[in-house]
Amino acid sequence: MSVLLIGGGLVGSQIANILVGQGEDLTILDYSPQPDSLADNVDSSKLRVMQGDILNPLDITRALRESNANQIIHTAAYPMLTIGAQENPYGAVQINIMGTVNVLEAARIHGVERVVAVSSGVLAMFWAGGEDNGESGKEEAYPRPTSFYATTKQAVESLAHNYADFCGVDVRLVRYAAIAGPWRGRGGGGPSNVFRDMVETAIRTGETSVAPQSVEWVYSKDAAKGTVLALQANNPKGRVFNVGTGTVTTPEDMADAVKAALPATKVSVSGQKPTGGFAAVPLSMSRSKTEIGYEPSFDMAGAIRDYAEWYKNRKP
Ligand SMILES: NC(=O)c1ccc[n+]([C@@H]2O[C@H](COP(=O)([O-])OP(=O)(O)OC[C@H]3O[C@@H](n4cnc5c(N)ncnc54)[C@H](O)[C@@H]3O)[C@@H](O)[C@H]2O)c1
Repeated sequence: MSVLLIGGGLVGSQIANILVGQGEDLTILDYSPQPDSLADNVDSSKLRVMQGDILNPLDITRALRESNANQIIHTAAYPMLTIGAQENPYGAVQINIMGTVNVLEAARIHGVERVVAVSSGVLAMFWAGGEDNGESGKEEAYPRPTSFYATTKQAVESLAHNYADFCGVDVRLVRYAAIAGPWRGRGGGGPSNVFRDMVETAIRTGETSVAPQSVEWVYSKDAAKGTVLALQANNPKGRVFNVGTGTVTTPEDMADAVKAALPATKVSVSGQKPTGGFAAVPLSMSRSKTEIGYEPSFDMAGAIRDYAEWYKNRKP
């Protein structure tokens, strides 16, 4: 089996680490590869990295031809996710929607066996409508997303279903909760960067502040695990799988987790209310558990401990 992983960022680097550990033949396609950051998380001598843009269909074709990949995991998205899309909706629509269409078209034309595309738990929270008792003839029955980023992710999901139903492409979708995880490069979303600052400040200074917001988080290693399980599952009944923890972490829970993981740290709940797509709705994990065998391995204290280990051991 040979896998083309599109996007080698915060989560992509962890997906790469799992696939390399399984001995898979792996190629990463990224328009702006970050080899040093990648090497923090995976032995990059065991994979290929190609520079290419999913907005250029020929780059995807070239990557599929040169890698001989028969499976695709597509993690690329417009930089800084919700924040980025609110600042530049046109760019986000291009990369998130048209980029995904290019990947799905390439999969169809090249007869790729399976594609996993990435959606977001923002769809559990950032929506309006869904009223009028579900009577579809009424104006507010159909839920619609309330941010540009969520709109692009809903389009990604709808297009993936269409490509599966009408074009025979075996597409699976993973909906991540807000991702926390080790990554020193550019990337991640608002929540990921808030988490990074919180943990790294605690390690460097012995004190830190927790954002005053409840969030459904997932550690990047768990997000990667769920993605690989979605890729490798045989004939799951559904196509969309939540990948989170199923719990919302309140600021007080987060403060307790920091103290449990880094006991010497002085923690306060303060600071600016962070911007960016924080979903405070617990995602149901039951379908992911039953159909692809996903269960998170890291609770919040475990995630912070693992992050701190990575931070101390990484190359300067
Ligand atoms: N980080 C989060 O909190 C979070 C939460 C829910 C869902 N997601 C989704 O998970 C996926 C991965 O997120 P991440 O945090 O690892 O993001 P990231 O920004 O760290 O990684 C994305 C990678 O895609 C690459 N990329 C972007 N546009 C590209 C293009 N046109 N062509 C080729 N490569 C391109 C970037 O260079 C980057 O390396 C995204 O689809 C994102 O929407 C993330």
